[in-house]
Amino acid sequence: MIQAVIQGTGSYLPEKRLTNADLEKLVETTDEWILERTGIAERPMAAEEQATSDLAYLAAQQALASAGVTPEEIDLIIVATVSGDFPFPSVACLLQQRLGCTKAGAFDVSATCVGFITAAQIAEQYIKAGKHQHVLVVGAETLSRITDYTDRTTCIIFSDGAGAAVLSAQEQLNDDIHGIIGSDIGANGEHFDLLYVPGGGSRYPDTTKPENKPKIVMNGNKIFKLAVHAMTDSVRKLLEQTGYNAEQIKWVVPHQANKRIIDAVARNLKVPDEKLIVTVKEFANNSSATIPIALDTAVKAGRIQRGDLVLMTSFGGGLVWGSLLVRY
Ligand code: UT7
Repeated sequence: MIQAVIQGTGSYLPEKRLTNADLEKLVETTDEWILERTGIAERPMAAEEQATSDLAYLAAQQALASAGVTPEEIDLIIVATVSGDFPFPSVACLLQQRLGCTKAGAFDVSATCVGFITAAQIAEQYIKAGKHQHVLVVGAETLSRITDYTDRTTCIIFSDGAGAAVLSAQEQLNDDIHGIIGSDIGANGEHFDLLYVPGGGSRYPDTTKPENKPKIVMNGNKIFKLAVHAMTDSVRKLLEQTGYNAEQIKWVVPHQANKRIIDAVARNLKVPDEKLIVTVKEFANNSSATIPIALDTAVKAGRIQRGDLVLMTSFGGGLVWGSLLVRY
C-alpha cells in the first residue's frame, strides 16, 4: 500500500515584529491584556515589498532541501492561503514558476486556518491514488494586509508567515505505518459572518463604502467558544475513526490563534502541556501558516522526531475545522 509521508518541512517568518508595545500606540489596549487573553507577545510582519508568494517561496525552498527533492521532481503544488498576491492567479502558480517546478500542476486552497490540513488531505489523495510521487503543500499568509490596525479586537492576534511540507509516496512495508494516518474536515457556512472579510469580493466590491472594508471582521468571543468545541469534536472523531487514543499521541500541533483556545482543547482531550507545540507567543496567528510553521519549528528543535505520532487540529472562518493524524 502507498503511504503519504512528510518527507521534509520548512518555514519562513519575516524579520520585522509588531510587539504589544507597538499595538499600545495604535489602539486602546495593554501588553498585560493581550498576553493574558491571547498569550501573544509579538507578530512577524512582512516587509512592504514582500507578498504572500515571497514568504511561501522561502518556506518551500527549505522544505524541498530538507526533503532532498528537486523542484523538477514536484508533481503538484497546493498553497493554502486567504491572502494571495492577487485575486488570481493563484500563489501556487507564482511559486511553480519561481521554484522551477517545471512538471507540477498548481492551485490554491481557500480554507482559512484549516487550509494546511485541507491541502495535506488533498495531497494525500493524489499520492494514495498513485497519481503523484511528490506534492508540495504550503500554508502562507500576509494577514497584515487584510488586518484593520484601528480594530483592537482583531489586530492583536494576526500576523504573517509561511510553512511548507513535501509529502511523498512511500510503499508501506509490513505494518510499518508512516505518514498521514487519517484526517477529518468539517464546515458550517451558517456562521460565515463571525469571521470574514466583508468587502472586495463579488458581494460587496465597492470598498470605498466603510461597511465594505476589505479587512478581517471577527466576533472573537463567539469564535473562541465554537473553536474549542469544534476542534475537540474533530479530534475525538478522528481518533475514533483511526483507532488511536489520546495517550498514544506524542505531539499535538494545534492552530495558534489564542493560547487559551489551545489550553481549553488540550484540557478537553486530557493532553498534558508537555505534548503541546506552542508558537503563538512569538509568531501569533498567521492562519493557514500556523500549523506548518509550528511543525517545522518543532522538527528543527529536535522535538518532533521520525516515528512520532503527531496530531494537528484547527478551526477558522467559514466556519471550518479539521484534524490530521500523522506518523512523522
Ligand atoms: O484564527 C481563527 C479563529 N480565530 C480565533 O480563534 C480567535 C478567537 N477569539 C479570541 O482569541 C478572543 O475572543 C479575543 C482575543 C479576540 C478577544 O478575547 P475575549 O476574551 O474573547 O474578549 P471579549 O471579546 O469577550 O472582550 C472582553 C472585554 C470587552 O470589554 P467589556 O465589554 O467587558 O468592557 C472588550 O471590549 O475586553 C475588551 N477588549 C479589549 N481590551 C483591551 C477587546 N479587545 C481588547 C484589547 N485590549 N485588544
